[in-house]
Amino acid sequence: MAKTRVQYICQNCGAVHARWLGQCPDCGEWNTILEGVAPAPRKGGGYAATASDVGVELLSEVSLADVPRVTSGSPEMDRVLGGGIVPGAVMLIGGDPGIGKSTLLLQVLAAVQAQRSTLYVTGEESLTQVRLRAERLGLPRMDLPVLAETRVEAVLQQLDKRRPGLVVLDSVQTLYTDALDSAPGSVSQLRECAAQVVRYAKRSQTAVVLVGHVTKEGAIAGPRVLEHMVDTVLYFEHDAGSRYRIVRAVKNRFGAVNELAVFAMTDAGLKEVSNPSALFLSRHAEPVPGSVISVSRQGSRPLLAEVQALVDRSALGTPRRVTLGLDSARLNLLLAVLHRHGGVSLADQDVFANVVGGMKIQEPAADLALLLAVLSSFKAKACPSGWVVFGEVGLAGEIRPVQAGEERLIEAAKQGFTHALVPVGNKPRSRAQLGIEVMPVARLEQALDWL
Ligand code: TYD
Ligand code: MG
Repeated sequence: MAKTRVQYICQNCGAVHARWLGQCPDCGEWNTILEGVAPAPRKGGGYAATASDVGVELLSEVSLADVPRVTSGSPEMDRVLGGGIVPGAVMLIGGDPGIGKSTLLLQVLAAVQAQRSTLYVTGEESLTQVRLRAERLGLPRMDLPVLAETRVEAVLQQLDKRRPGLVVLDSVQTLYTDALDSAPGSVSQLRECAAQVVRYAKRSQTAVVLVGHVTKEGAIAGPRVLEHMVDTVLYFEHDAGSRYRIVRAVKNRFGAVNELAVFAMTDAGLKEVSNPSALFLSRHAEPVPGSVISVSRQGSRPLLAEVQALVDRSALGTPRRVTLGLDSARLNLLLAVLHRHGGVSLADQDVFANVVGGMKIQEPAADLALLLAVLSSFKAKACPSGWVVFGEVGLAGEIRPVQAGEERLIEAAKQGFTHALVPVGNKPRSRAQLGIEVMPVARLEQALDWL
């Protein structure tokens, strides 16, 4: 075997150097350079190795063979994946330790095993532990091939021999390759192991799931080194202390991003929650000030969310602006709009904002709900019950329409809401069929009057 050449990679910026250095000349960070494998030089040089046209096809002549998708056994999970598991796809699933990654994947494997052969490679737990977990889960079938191995070459050798349709590598941080001396979990090891696995997956059309632990900084070990190499990136999220888990697609070459699935952790594994809208509402018996229900959109699905705000006299010189699940820059912006166009100054008030149930809202469609929640808390006046609110608030005080207004209204009606405060641009053309009374607003002043 040819000797592998070694190169030195900065763990911070990814710059490649010919020798080890204490400080990276590219980004200026100290002690970030580790060794990695240099690509082997091609024999013969130049580009003449293949006949000139081979591999070039007209887009119109590329065969449109239907991508066969394998169901993961859970309709919610399939939706997050864009319709099921695609052969040859490499998926990265990240999340805090103990959140349920191994549990979910074991359940998926048991479902897939009915259609394709699978392999579960564990580098973290012993086979006994895996067996115990499987017993606890009451899996529909126990004839799952499992392998306890962390050397990537040995794993690939097994894969070549068994040719499974789906492989789970739990976790990618425990894998290591002989080609490098650095410790498992270091960026160079991670990158090299993942690269080998991705090459194998594409060559053999095997679907591979890489499990990755999220480090304290919130990135999968190594600054996002794997995200660009894989087809699909899923993150497991949860609210501290809650038994609900959200799996969200943040990148997907085979489906929509931001698609999410909600699971509940029970004593027999993860159970999917098919009506998650109900989960993110606190359902007060009486309307309370500072709480407004909005309809956010996560991926292709509208979801009800309760936006809460608490406005309280500040004891500090600079009042606090704290947000959970919402963008704090957006809150500051809305407070400025409220002051300038609504004539309400909160300069001496602390403002806290939160989305119930640990949900995160990244879209501006929650603007109007957040603004009204703030005002409702400040004035100690509750919003009427049975109402939902959505709309983007512009800096000029206008209420802008949002995407998929009708879908949001339908979801709200489905959850039993009777009235909606929406931007004029989202007023449905035919109101009868939606089953919800709509009040359109064009300017911030109208929305404030409503409250
Ligand atoms: P696990 O899948 O091992 O997490 P990860 O692989 O992401 O590190 O999940 C472990 C947690 O889940 C652990 O705290 C126990 C809990 N759990 C249940 O509540 N019910 C179950 O049936 C199982 C298998 C685990
Ligand atoms: Mg695990």
